[in-house]
Amino acid sequence: MRQATVHIDREALQYNLNRVKQLAPTAKVVSMVKANAYGHGIKDCLAALSSTDAFGVACLEEALEIRALGYAQPITLIEGVFSEDEMNVVINNNLEVIVHHQPQIKWLLAHKELYLAKNLKVWVKLNSGMNRLGFKFAEIIDVIHLLKAEGFDCVLAMHFANADTENHPLNEQQKNQFLQVKQACSPILASCCNSAAIFKWPELNFDFVRPGIMLYGASPFADLSAHDLDIRPVMTFTAEVIALNTIQAGESVGYGSTFIADKIMNIAIVSIGYGDGYPRAFIQQNYVVIHGQKRCVIGRVAMDMIAIDVTDLEITLGTEVELWGKQRLVDDVAEANGTIGYELLCRLSNRPSRK
Ligand SMILES: Cc1ncc(COP(=O)(O)O)c(C=O)c1O
Repeated sequence: MRQATVHIDREALQYNLNRVKQLAPTAKVVSMVKANAYGHGIKDCLAALSSTDAFGVACLEEALEIRALGYAQPITLIEGVFSEDEMNVVINNNLEVIVHHQPQIKWLLAHKELYLAKNLKVWVKLNSGMNRLGFKFAEIIDVIHLLKAEGFDCVLAMHFANADTENHPLNEQQKNQFLQVKQACSPILASCCNSAAIFKWPELNFDFVRPGIMLYGASPFADLSAHDLDIRPVMTFTAEVIALNTIQAGESVGYGSTFIADKIMNIAIVSIGYGDGYPRAFIQQNYVVIHGQKRCVIGRVAMDMIAIDVTDLEITLGTEVELWGKQRLVDDVAEANGTIGYELLCRLSNRPSRK
């Protein structure tokens, strides 16, 4: 059987959740498990996140999957509903919505009695400069006052555009607007911290933090690794050596013959490719780890295979290769491929088996 395997370390996930709790001891934790728990597999991750206070997802379908697996914690739909007909399903399944534009307020008010009867909170999103979702500063205070007057328990919510970037000028603007709205609408519950903000701004933890990437043991920062942050990679992605070749100087490897040997080399062919979610584009030399040692990927990544220079290594068919995980951090693979760890994790295909 072809060996391309995603291993999920539930203890690492629990460890990382505990790191969130250490960093934000007074806040409730809304674990972000959207996009199939950042590609890790929702079922396994939920089992390891049983001590979280709540979950955050991007849409109704993701929330219903969590309910179908039997989890009763609060769930926030971080983009709210996409049409009014979702409101009944939301209420029947005890889901909490974000409201970020006027039509959603109308839909919510139309279902007010049932929503309030379930004691569900409403998350009200401030657009403080990211300019994706939310009410602008000039509008949100009226929105919150209206919702409060209608009897809703509101959570003021915001998302930072640059929490991973030290001294970005938008950070101050976003913080200031958030704090001003919070004060103007006091008392109100509040939530603005993703992983980067949890690490950087403990004073902004407030009532709910919303960690995503740090739970999975990848870093939100370009200049700080998972090891620096004391978080543990949850996913280890491995494959096996399926063929061994010796090539002479002047011979090439793979599609396009982009790699040409300048000496006699031993090449291992490994059962992984872009059909599994291993990235094809690269901007720096990429490598894998075999027997604890870094070895370069050579030539083009194909749909099902990559080639590795194993010239000075003793290996056999079936030798395990770590593509990313505890030894080769996903963030470093991402950097070599001009992307971020988030993307590599989320875009794994269904083909690798899961353990
Ligand atoms: C609204 C919101 N909150 C929290 C997060 C978690 O962010 P991170 O994975 O950087 O911790 C996300 C992720 O996209 C988000 O959209």
